[in-house]
Amino acid sequence: MKALILTTAEHTARVEEVPKPVPGSSELLIKVHAVALNPVDALYVACPLAAQPNGSLGWILQISSWASVMTFRPRLTRGRRWELEWQASCNEVRSQSTSPRSMSLEEASTIPTCGMTAAQGLFFRLGVPCPFWPTPEAPQSKLGRPLNVFVYGASSSLGLFAGQLANLVKQHSQVPIRLLGAARDSHHQMLKEHPYSFDALFDYRQDDWPEQVTKFTDGTGVDFVMDCISEESTVEMSSRTLNPTGKCAVFRPPKNNYDPDKLPTRLIYGAAYEAFGVATDYGAFTFPVVPDAREFAAAFYQYLTDSGRAGQIKLRGNPVRLMPGGLDHIAPDGLSILGAGVLGHLMNGKQHGRTETYMRPISAEKPVYNIS
Ligand SMILES: NC(=O)c1ccc[n+]([C@@H]2O[C@H](COP(=O)([O-])OP(=O)(O)OC[C@H]3O[C@@H](n4cnc5c(N)ncnc54)[C@H](OP(=O)(O)O)[C@@H]3O)[C@@H](O)[C@H]2O)c1
Repeated sequence: MKALILTTAEHTARVEEVPKPVPGSSELLIKVHAVALNPVDALYVACPLAAQPNGSLGWILQISSWASVMTFRPRLTRGRRWELEWQASCNEVRSQSTSPRSMSLEEASTIPTCGMTAAQGLFFRLGVPCPFWPTPEAPQSKLGRPLNVFVYGASSSLGLFAGQLANLVKQHSQVPIRLLGAARDSHHQMLKEHPYSFDALFDYRQDDWPEQVTKFTDGTGVDFVMDCISEESTVEMSSRTLNPTGKCAVFRPPKNNYDPDKLPTRLIYGAAYEAFGVATDYGAFTFPVVPDAREFAAAFYQYLTDSGRAGQIKLRGNPVRLMPGGLDHIAPDGLSILGAGVLGHLMNGKQHGRTETYMRPISAEKPVYNIS
């Protein structure tokens, strides 16, 4: 079969022919139909997470797939090769892959990684009242005013999920929630509509947007910030919207992206990989195993699964940009677009120079490959 192999020593991702894997007694063989790309997929080709001791082993990129809406756990083996251990029975997989029926596999492929990342930030780290996980009562909820939740980068993949999840809170929480967001003005209409339903939007290209946000809250400030871009300048500006008891979740680790010591707010960062129940080694620092993080991820996937089986779609996927070609095109096309996107400055920052329509920058959508 074909596999996209990352050779970390060469910083390359290439399609190669490999023997078809034979699942062990507690393993499943997953046929991946659709692959959604995230910015880190390109970053980890250019700057692999785990350095190779001898460069001879590859990392099979099993990027988000619908089948990964299961509880899974990676294992870092000798030679630094990631493997996924699937913790599910075949029956569960079958029902998972046919439910919800009204969602295409391409749309569904956008949800597992990024939807879960948004849920981790909003519920597990910030403590916004959660429909599927116990969260402590927010102290601000006693103040007799709505809780202000602000999503910076509302048109990013992460922001689109954060907006939808905050809307689920509106239906679930006893305390009224007011959902604010920052995105370019051409996306505002879409973001005001279902399933995002932002109450107020601000254009991040206007220098005084943090002041506009504060003014909108009558000077109170925001209680919870999801900074879905998490660069030095965005973290600094997002922090300015917070009230003194407010909290800010960020999605890139410190050092290259921002210096937490220079910011007045306590930023809450965690690696998405904590969902696997493992520590994550970023080289400069290691994120430890986080108690309950794996259980939280399982509860999130279970919530989506149960709702889907009951015929309710709690979370829509991102708008899909269906990319032409299959597995062979992921590296030359898909990773090139991402390499010029939000994390481009951490790679070589090169623009790809391609003029095909499907190579335009990512804006409120997700590049997806159908490889079935
Ligand atoms: N995707 C994931 O699963 C995932 C998981 C964990 C962490 N993260 C992290 O979250 C961040 C965002 O990832 P993503 O996949 O959500 O990105 P994305 O969808 O590729 O981001 C593109 C969108 O972000 C907007 N944007 C870019 N720079 C901006 C800025 N300075 N201010 C406001 N909006 C800006 C763009 O706005 P315009 O439309 O106006 O150009 C565009 O709509 C990355 O740092 C990533 O590493 C992502």
